[in-house]
Amino acid sequence: MNQERSDTLVLFGATGDLAHKKIFPALYTMVAKGTLTEPVIGVAFDAWDVKQLQARARDGIVMAIGKVDEKIFAKLASLLRYVSGDYRSAATFEKLKTALGTAQHPLHYLAVPPTMFETVIQGLGQSSAAQGARLMVEKPFGHDLQSARWLNRVLHLVFEEQSIFRIDHYLGKEAIQNLLYFRFANSFLEPIWNRNFVESVQITMAEDFGVEGRGRFYDEVGCIRDVIENHLLNILLLLAMEPPVGRSADDLIDEKVQVLRAIRTLTKDDVVRGQFKGYLREPGVAPNSPVETFAAVRFFVDTWRWQDVPFFIRAGKSMPVHATEVIVRLKRPPLNVFDPIKPDDANYVRFRIDPQVAISIGAQRKAAGDDMIGEQVELTALDDSKGDMPPYERLIGDAMNGNGQLFTRQDASELAWRIVGPVLGDTTPPHLYEPGTWGPADAMTGFGPPNGWINPAK
Ligand code: BG6
Repeated sequence: MNQERSDTLVLFGATGDLAHKKIFPALYTMVAKGTLTEPVIGVAFDAWDVKQLQARARDGIVMAIGKVDEKIFAKLASLLRYVSGDYRSAATFEKLKTALGTAQHPLHYLAVPPTMFETVIQGLGQSSAAQGARLMVEKPFGHDLQSARWLNRVLHLVFEEQSIFRIDHYLGKEAIQNLLYFRFANSFLEPIWNRNFVESVQITMAEDFGVEGRGRFYDEVGCIRDVIENHLLNILLLLAMEPPVGRSADDLIDEKVQVLRAIRTLTKDDVVRGQFKGYLREPGVAPNSPVETFAAVRFFVDTWRWQDVPFFIRAGKSMPVHATEVIVRLKRPPLNVFDPIKPDDANYVRFRIDPQVAISIGAQRKAAGDDMIGEQVELTALDDSKGDMPPYERLIGDAMNGNGQLFTRQDASELAWRIVGPVLGDTTPPHLYEPGTWGPADAMTGFGPPNGWINPAK
């Protein structure tokens, strides 16, 4: 296995949206911190030159960060190269080989639509640009179990598993790192982190915007494939997993895979699907599309630790707020010694993932006054409105160093599709909801954690 740091980053899809919005800003920050000094070769179909790529990079950085430091940008610009060509043509890969020069261990980053994956992989394999190289692949990783298996086979024709880095950018978020750290660096959580104390787990990802011009993409995907099968299921794994036995990437991923193996395959009764009113008018969306823009899903993890504890995931576009939050709600005390503690006032642990990072514990205390009457407070372990390293910066850095801890391994990528398989591609019309609400209220009646959903604050 290749242990060396990658000596060149090759960015397929360099003129595309993802590169513009996320990758160039990440590269800029890496250059600013001195964590990227290697050449970056952009590859794309557009007949551009490197100046045009630099201008595009600058534009993306300004949009993401606000302002460019000219010294830093000049350093980044000096690292950029550009190869233009059709991915189906061997000549493109010959040009890439020339641009790679003496590089021994390039990292090839496929920031291209999944329909292009196979073509690029074949081109890399045939041109020998894949030798000693790593591969980073963007989501969506397949659209069901069969296509994920097929894709894995295609990747393995050219790359060995240890050299493949399947991105789920959620895993690169600071808050997700902290969730893992908080769970396993504190001893007070462990005794209560199980079916004896935890009543339910709920994960909400609310976005207060629609599909933002991505109608065509979104209409082929829908909410379950877009964010539940990957980002949010990954959060569930981190909440439910056992402590890893060592520090290697495989030690951590092995534990996540154990949870995936224990999650019950979903049935239609485990899901409520919704669509915001107006979705059908979005450009690129099919007339009468049955695609969901909201879904609430119930999971069970059949392990000793979690038997019968429901894990709910709820995600939607056009919700009232933009926030991702986890609530691990504990059972209420067995007896009311003072005033009655309502079940929904029970203790909880709250992990705020986005847009700010926070970890807090909901507790009861006596309200000031004569009576022994309680009030809910939050004990805050972390409250950081800035967040920290953006996910793409962390993940590109890790892939260049060959650290696969935050990436999805082949077995995990396939198991996740096994779980959601039966509820994909439902063509029954989803329940409609008003934009700016928490989904289809009627359909959600009686569906959720035992003592209700907790809506994240703005
Ligand atoms: C993407 C989804 O993977 O994640 C989008 O395709 C979603 O629909 C996005 O909006 C959310 O990620 P973030 O990091 O912007 O919250």
